[in-house]
Amino acid sequence: MKHNLHQQFQIIFNKEAEKAYFSPGRVNLIGEHIDYNGGLVMPCAITFGTYVLVSPNNDHVFRFRSLNFDDKLDIPLKETYKKTGESWFNYPLGIIDYFLQDSHQLQGLDMLYYGDIPISSGLSSSASIEVVTAYMLNDLFNGGYTKLELVQLGKQVENVFIGVNCGIMDQFAVAFGEKDKALMLNCDTLEYEAVNTNLGDYVLAIINTNKPRKLAESKYNERVQECQTALKTLQQELDIQNLCDIDSGTFKKHQHLITEGTVLKRAQHVIEENDRVKLAAKALADGNLQSFGQLMYASHDSLKNLYEVSGKELDAVVEYSQTNPNVAGARMTGAGFGGCAIALVKESAFDTFSKEVTDYYTEKIGYAPSVYSSLIGDGVGLLKETLNTNI
Ligand code: GLA
Repeated sequence: MKHNLHQQFQIIFNKEAEKAYFSPGRVNLIGEHIDYNGGLVMPCAITFGTYVLVSPNNDHVFRFRSLNFDDKLDIPLKETYKKTGESWFNYPLGIIDYFLQDSHQLQGLDMLYYGDIPISSGLSSSASIEVVTAYMLNDLFNGGYTKLELVQLGKQVENVFIGVNCGIMDQFAVAFGEKDKALMLNCDTLEYEAVNTNLGDYVLAIINTNKPRKLAESKYNERVQECQTALKTLQQELDIQNLCDIDSGTFKKHQHLITEGTVLKRAQHVIEENDRVKLAAKALADGNLQSFGQLMYASHDSLKNLYEVSGKELDAVVEYSQTNPNVAGARMTGAGFGGCAIALVKESAFDTFSKEVTDYYTEKIGYAPSVYSSLIGDGVGLLKETLNTNI
């Protein structure tokens, strides 16, 4: 994709950008709302992402510009920063703050951001901008952090500076993603394996509901809280650190402890979803995409009925998918409350799928979704060929 970012940088800052970096967004194939419960997840990095072009300055000022948003910020180099309003630049500002708190000497920077991840689509534009900024600062100022530490600091900034109690999946996926691979990540131990996404004659479709997401952050934090309540209750009888330390068999024996209906439903989703990821990993390894697809549908059903993070828009995509024999499976991906669904669609039937799901959705919801055929790409990195023609 060519956006002439170097030329834009030159126009905005009246000088050349010295370096350029990219971090992707992600989709999660299965394992939803269990990263913050020590579960197994299966995300992949996608080829949409966030670019940042940068050049240090001697003015002791951080200048943030974006080609996606009009709001910009010029802020002098200080000892610490706080989140101000809801602007996009809070994410990179939070990362800068982390570096400063961790005693790194920074210099002023002129930065131009551009992202081609649809905003608020649940494809992790926030993790992408956090990780690309952390990677850039680490590189420019010899921060000495490992990639895993950059992931952890990105999550920390999201939790504390931004105020969303997310798990580690998104930052991990956008940092460690590999082309054509899904990451089987254990969110408790942070051990992972990059597994081949051997989709045979299927492709992964991403369907953006284009639903404006409201209150998603507070509802997300509410779910995290409910899981913590479930864990505390189960700990009366079980020696566990995370909900995902037990399987559904063990859960059945102890679920009577949880007397609050909502909390019980949340815990049931988490524990059964973790079991589903194990089955899905086996199905993928065996090349059994029908079985993988059935697990996707089961995951969606649970997110809809037990975890209650779907909505009529995401449900409409899955409802349509179930009527199409060329779709092996579909589900919402990411936090939910709008955002994107994914579907495993026969490559030869993708165009028909795209048209029919659009018609079905538009008829039911009143506006159109956006449908993409997704490519699984690499994680964060420095763009070596920073030629004007490349980005
Ligand atoms: C968001 C969070 C992740 C994860 C997903 C749901 O994307 O940032 O940590 O919890 O929701 O699986």
